[in-house]
Amino acid sequence: MVQLEGVDILTGKQFNRGSLDQILDIADSMDKALRVDRSLQQLDGYVMASLFFEPSTRTRLSFETAMHRLGGAVVGFAEAGTSSVAKGESLNDTIRTVDQYVDVIVMRHPEIGSARQAAEVATAPVINGGDGAGQHPTQALLDLYTIQQECGHVDGTTIALCGDLKNGRTVHAGVELYRNYDCCLIFVAPEQLAMPPGVTQRLLERGVRVEQTAELEPALAQADVIYMTRIQKERFADPAEYERLKGSYVLNRDMVERINPDITIMHPLPRVKEISSDVDGLAGAAYFRQARNGVPVRMALLAMVLGQA
Ligand code: NCD
Repeated sequence: MVQLEGVDILTGKQFNRGSLDQILDIADSMDKALRVDRSLQQLDGYVMASLFFEPSTRTRLSFETAMHRLGGAVVGFAEAGTSSVAKGESLNDTIRTVDQYVDVIVMRHPEIGSARQAAEVATAPVINGGDGAGQHPTQALLDLYTIQQECGHVDGTTIALCGDLKNGRTVHAGVELYRNYDCCLIFVAPEQLAMPPGVTQRLLERGVRVEQTAELEPALAQADVIYMTRIQKERFADPAEYERLKGSYVLNRDMVERINPDITIMHPLPRVKEISSDVDGLAGAAYFRQARNGVPVRMALLAMVLGQA
């Protein structure tokens, strides 16, 4: 049994096959329990802080839902403008203060490394809900869980990751999980938005099979899973560069039906135009089921870091 009690969840790099198997198993039992009861009581009396310094729909609401469904309570803010950050308070002071009130801290912040910095000053476990263009480990875990649910297994799959691989924190965390499985990865991105070379290099050194291309269609033909991502507008220093790249890839129903009708289609959401809405009705369109999986996976993580799994 891997012990996650009191452990900060900061990056996809911190997991190995043993801890991943265990998280997926506990998430699966949470999922099954939720189909019987609306709410469980493992975290009765516990309080979670939900500190979102950057916009969020799924991550914040599914974490809050997860805590409520475990019988726990939630405090926090969805906009830093309503907290003392607006008065100039530092991140460290905000975290130190919240740490006096709660048992676990979930946070999202625009700066890379912010969650690690918070974890250094907090005694409560800190869960990174996205640090700028850095990492987003809980999204990666629910993505992994979704692949297992949709494909029946993760080993043996070919996963194509498409879009803004340079700035996308969900794919940065995702590849760190997939390297624990016998997967093939295909990175589909224009040169300007390629996966950071250091990340690709490290995967190759560890023996992960990685292909890189700018072409979506051949990747679609080869893959079991296509993971589309949004071009991360808020990370561009030059708005004109965003305008040039924003339409790089659009997946539509005709492409899926023509090239690979059995493929599983995922997206962390929000989508802008990367997946046209005519894809939504296809059996393989998994992105809203993927969003739903955020609840059992985050329930598993909360119960584990609080030692109540
Ligand atoms: C992602 C994020 O915030 O990194 N969304 C999410 O958490 N589901 C993806 C994105 O914003 O493009």
